[in-house]
Amino acid sequence: MSTTRTAESISRIRCISCGATPDSAGQDFRCTACGDLLEFFFPGWTSDSPAFDPAVLKSLWLNRRTSREALDQSGVWRFRELLPHVASPEEHVITLREGNTPLYHMPRCARAVGVEHLRAKHQGMNPTASFKDTGMTVAASSAHQGGFRWVACASTGNTSASMAAYAARGNMLSLVLIPDGQISWGKLSQSLDYGALTCQLRTDFDGCVRILNELVRQKPVYLLNSVNPYRIEGQKTAAIELMEQLAWEPPDHIIVPGGNLGNSSAIGKALLEMRELKLISRLPKLSIIQAQGANPFYRSVREFGGKKLEPMTADTLATAIRIGNPASWKKALRVLQATGGEVEEVSEVEIAAAKAEIGADGIGCEPASAVTLAGLKKLRRSGFVKSGESVVLILTGHLLKDPDFTIKFHRGDLFAGTGDAAEAVQTKHLQRAPIVLDADLGAVIAALDAAERNS
Ligand code: F0G
Repeated sequence: MSTTRTAESISRIRCISCGATPDSAGQDFRCTACGDLLEFFFPGWTSDSPAFDPAVLKSLWLNRRTSREALDQSGVWRFRELLPHVASPEEHVITLREGNTPLYHMPRCARAVGVEHLRAKHQGMNPTASFKDTGMTVAASSAHQGGFRWVACASTGNTSASMAAYAARGNMLSLVLIPDGQISWGKLSQSLDYGALTCQLRTDFDGCVRILNELVRQKPVYLLNSVNPYRIEGQKTAAIELMEQLAWEPPDHIIVPGGNLGNSSAIGKALLEMRELKLISRLPKLSIIQAQGANPFYRSVREFGGKKLEPMTADTLATAIRIGNPASWKKALRVLQATGGEVEEVSEVEIAAAKAEIGADGIGCEPASAVTLAGLKKLRRSGFVKSGESVVLILTGHLLKDPDFTIKFHRGDLFAGTGDAAEAVQTKHLQRAPIVLDADLGAVIAALDAAERNS
């Protein structure tokens, strides 16, 4: 979506399996020939084009940081040369100034894991507190340009929160399908407040997706799940912004959580495109971590060499990634292989411990994001990540998205009465339960002194 259309900015869509290049996508964003997913490609990109001179692009993007224009202030649209073109951006672009997220050093986590250079890019610092906003600004703008009245998604909570906000900002109506009783209150409260029509279906996330796919075939509703390739394009910018923050010197490893596998696909796509355009000279290894109870991609790679994916009934307290039939698994497999990354699975207790450790570094995140640190520990133990290598974790959601999980963990209730209770004993040292005291100075001083002795 460049402000002016040039040969370089022309984007086309292509099927990831049969290579068909239709002129436009249908309502379900599936290839009409073979049914697989679509992706954007940019036939006009050549590294000898002056508009794509790496030095020119880097300085253009940096200069936009001081601009007063909404488009430039967005950490997504700032990189619009690498995004699909949409005419009249002033009319159609819906932006909440997404992106622009911080990259933090994680010194305590680094020591605990045994790596020298550990950083976290916190995508939970987006306007609706998850990484979804970077893709949503692009896809919602495309819905606006298409003149849609309704947009819709199936969600584990973050996509729906983001979609509801962007739809409201763009004067569109939004329909949310979420699994009843399986998403956090924080996320549900967002879609209600932003005015979505919120339907809690008595099924899981995968069941919500099935209904949505049927719905878009019957109603003029614009689909905003990550099968929508505009979402993937917007989510690429997290990786572009990360490279800029690292002065275009790629880290050795990037680690992402894997749910529906749109985010890993997007970050991988951005890395490959940046290398193609000579913005970076080498590829980081992109590794994908799943919760053990929602690990169809892990099993696909480890058991079937990526040849097939067997859907499963997913179950994890990290509700954001409670997904048994990930739509973008083939795209994710491609970038995993192209970058030489690894796939891992982590237990519920490992996720909870990692989340508390990220919190103790003063950062915090939601449970699904913490699989990255838990996975890094395993990748260190297996030797895939070496102590001298640099690692960036992608934290996908904010701590306050799921306070129930956090409070239960610190009170020691999270695993009470479950099969994980015995393993969870190892996390006691990470728990900081609140202390209820009388309103008495002596009692507070005694608590302070006891904490000092134990610190
Ligand atoms: N982390 C968080 C916080 C998420 O909300 C999600 C996905 C993921 C990681 C996984 O990303 O699906 O691209 O592999 N949440 C979606 C939703 C499914 O509906 O909010 P993915």
